Amino acid sequence: MMRSIRAKIILLFVVIFGFTLSIFSGALYFLYARQSAQNFDLNLSNDALEIVGLIKGNGVLEQEVIPNLIQHPLTVNLGTKRYVQVLSISGNVIIRSSNLKNVTLPVSQEVLTLALSQHQVFETLDKSTTQRLITKGRLRLVTYPFFDNGVPRYLVQVASNTLTLDEGLLELRLLLLIAVPLTILAAALGGFYLAKKAFDPIDKIIRTAQSISAEHLDKRLETGKVDDEITRLSKTLNAMFDRIEEAFKLQKQFTADASHELKTPLTILLGEIEVALNNRRTPEDYVDILNSSVEEIRRITNIVDELLTIARLESGQLQLQKRPTRVDELLLDAVSRTSAYASQRSININYEVQNKSEQESEEVFVNGDRDKLLSVFINLLDNAIKYSNSNSTIRVVQVVEKNFAKLKIIDKGIGISPEDLPHVFDRFYRADKSRSVEGTQRGSGLGLSISRFLVEAHSGTITIESQTGLGTTVIIQLPILHTEELTESQRADSLA
Ligand SMILES: Nc1ncnc2c1ncn2[C@@H]1O[C@H](COP(=O)(O)OP(=O)(O)OP(=O)(O)O)[C@@H](O)[C@H]1O
Ligand SMILES: [Mg+2]
Repeated sequence: MMRSIRAKIILLFVVIFGFTLSIFSGALYFLYARQSAQNFDLNLSNDALEIVGLIKGNGVLEQEVIPNLIQHPLTVNLGTKRYVQVLSISGNVIIRSSNLKNVTLPVSQEVLTLALSQHQVFETLDKSTTQRLITKGRLRLVTYPFFDNGVPRYLVQVASNTLTLDEGLLELRLLLLIAVPLTILAAALGGFYLAKKAFDPIDKIIRTAQSISAEHLDKRLETGKVDDEITRLSKTLNAMFDRIEEAFKLQKQFTADASHELKTPLTILLGEIEVALNNRRTPEDYVDILNSSVEEIRRITNIVDELLTIARLESGQLQLQKRPTRVDELLLDAVSRTSAYASQRSININYEVQNKSEQESEEVFVNGDRDKLLSVFINLLDNAIKYSNSNSTIRVVQVVEKNFAKLKIIDKGIGISPEDLPHVFDRFYRADKSRSVEGTQRGSGLGLSISRFLVEAHSGTITIESQTGLGTTVIIQLPILHTEELTESQRADSLA
């Protein structure tokens, strides 16, 4: 198996080109040879006709003039080196050109029969006859019958050396035999050069790409100025390396953040238990210590839960159980589940419906996963409560527009600074710690990033508007299912 496309291309190119060129040259030679042979015969035949005319004009066929004429070579209007012989029908020589000397051109019985049926016959003479007349080449002979009023009178024979023709063809053969392989060789060299030029950049890409490993992820392929295939390939690969590098960084960051996040509560836990072990304590002290330990362990459990969720989201293992779901009910559910926490901080939560469509009831259906959407709403309410001051009010507003439901959670809390705002959806991101509200639990900074993922998995969007000190508004938009699209059973189902 050949390992390089370059070699394959060159080989293929040479084979195709060589084959085509050979066929072409062969055909050319064949046609040329046939044409030349036909011309040669035509000339012989014309010469024979010429002789016929000559003889007829002179009336040389009268028996008595023959002996006189036999001495004169027939050279008028004939090509160079023509051997001419005129025979009677019975095969007796009547006239012969002088260059024939004492050689008699042969007439076989076959030729005679053919000639008598009004055919001119071409033949190439055998060696023995040829060698007596010429030293080099072959003799080609035409036997041409002359008929007078349908009666055969005599045969004209003209012979000529085919040497020039043969030599010409030989030259052509030699030329083709040398030129064709040379051309193929040149083509192969040219092909090699072109393939090298075409594949060099690819080789370079391969070498660079090989050297880009986990350690040198910042390396990139060179991109040329011309927007050709190679440049596009390099750009595509570079873009891929960018994404890989980014993913690598995120991965490292995530591991670091996660470890750090877990380390804090573990350190606290360890410290508390060590202190407790130092001295004998009263049972009340132990209860206190255990209570605070439970608190830390709960935090750790929460973080681990969130990390697990993220891991599932990332690996695509998280399967959403989508079905028609009433968002208004989910919102109310989330409000009631967080109300204890809210009242603990003397915070009111108001739920309002502002329907813009002609729809009268607050029923709004979306195609969604109940539990996941509920956890999103709880998360957002938890944030709103956590980052609000006591005695404030949180508004949960539900607006139904033509194709989507807008759900706003509006608080009058500490707000998010413009510098923090773009990052709040990042994992582990928490706005400046010093600003967090007295008496609230420190979060892990994962809630919003998980929420965004879940909302987007429902083809929705989540945005945050906020002003430091004035409050924060989180807006979720979800595409709604129109009630007409629901079957009775789905309706019943969604209420279950
Ligand atoms: N309603 C809000 N008001 C003010 N700041 C907010 C609000 N919601 C989020 N933030 C800021 O955005 C950060 C990220 O929020 P996120 O919900 O992701 O994390 P968290 O609440 O700190 O922790 P977790 O939700 O994972 O327990 C928060 O730490 C906080 O600084
Ligand atoms: Mg949160």
